[in-house]
Amino acid sequence: MASFKLAQLSDTHVVRKHSVLSNGVDSNHALRAAVYQLIKADDIDAVLLSGDLVERGEIYEYFELRNILDPLMGLKPVYLMLGNHDVRDNFLGLFRDYPFINQANNSWGVQYSVTLNDTHALVVLDTLKEGRDAGYLSADKLIWLDRTLERHREKSVLLAMHHPMIDVGNSMMNKMNLVNQSDLSAVLQKHKNVNRIFCGHIHREITDAFGTIPVQVCPSTAFAYPANLNESNVDQLCRDNPGYLVHEITDGVLTSKRHNLDLHASLATA
Ligand SMILES: [Fe+2]
Repeated sequence: MASFKLAQLSDTHVVRKHSVLSNGVDSNHALRAAVYQLIKADDIDAVLLSGDLVERGEIYEYFELRNILDPLMGLKPVYLMLGNHDVRDNFLGLFRDYPFINQANNSWGVQYSVTLNDTHALVVLDTLKEGRDAGYLSADKLIWLDRTLERHREKSVLLAMHHPMIDVGNSMMNKMNLVNQSDLSAVLQKHKNVNRIFCGHIHREITDAFGTIPVQVCPSTAFAYPANLNESNVDQLCRDNPGYLVHEITDGVLTSKRHNLDLHASLATA
């Protein structure tokens, strides 16, 4: 059986054209470098961006995001997902007609599912509750998840959601996790076909489990937070490399590998 490779980028925090983040990081350049690496890699079948697509949720930032992603979107499926820095209406203003987004039920959230291959499906959740850093899954979203997992009952499901639901190693970020973890757990236990959960939000690579389901937290393409994040070091730049993950399904088995970002790479047209 042929393998399927899904690249996961996260916390891209794109800003307006010719701008940088308040910590000095050129997040737009970082995403351009990631896009370039993925195009050059040639063996990536699809790409997931797991939330915090832009920094302030402004329409101009989503415009720049679309510009940066354009070279990739023409080559392979790109699955977009929202995080706490995103603003749903502004995102939809630029991406409502975009493949996969156009099948999402936009009245309460941007959630959709995709069959990846014979064995696996990807289910994308929207944990954004605007005005809060922590994540929340409303009843509508949980009902949709329940029905979607039933629809994919013959598949192993890769569940993508911005906010983790595990102990991420520091109290500052643990307070910003998914709030209603027990509601999610109840749905997952009913179906038992979720094979892995992919998250972002923490700006570090973390592997743990939610009950019996392995959880993989993806690093940010823009910058890393220190593992011991607290009020005194939150504004300090961490030396750890930004990066992304590549999840590979071969013969129905999933493995994940981290790639560091080569920030010197960029598209000639960028
Ligand atoms: Fe983020």
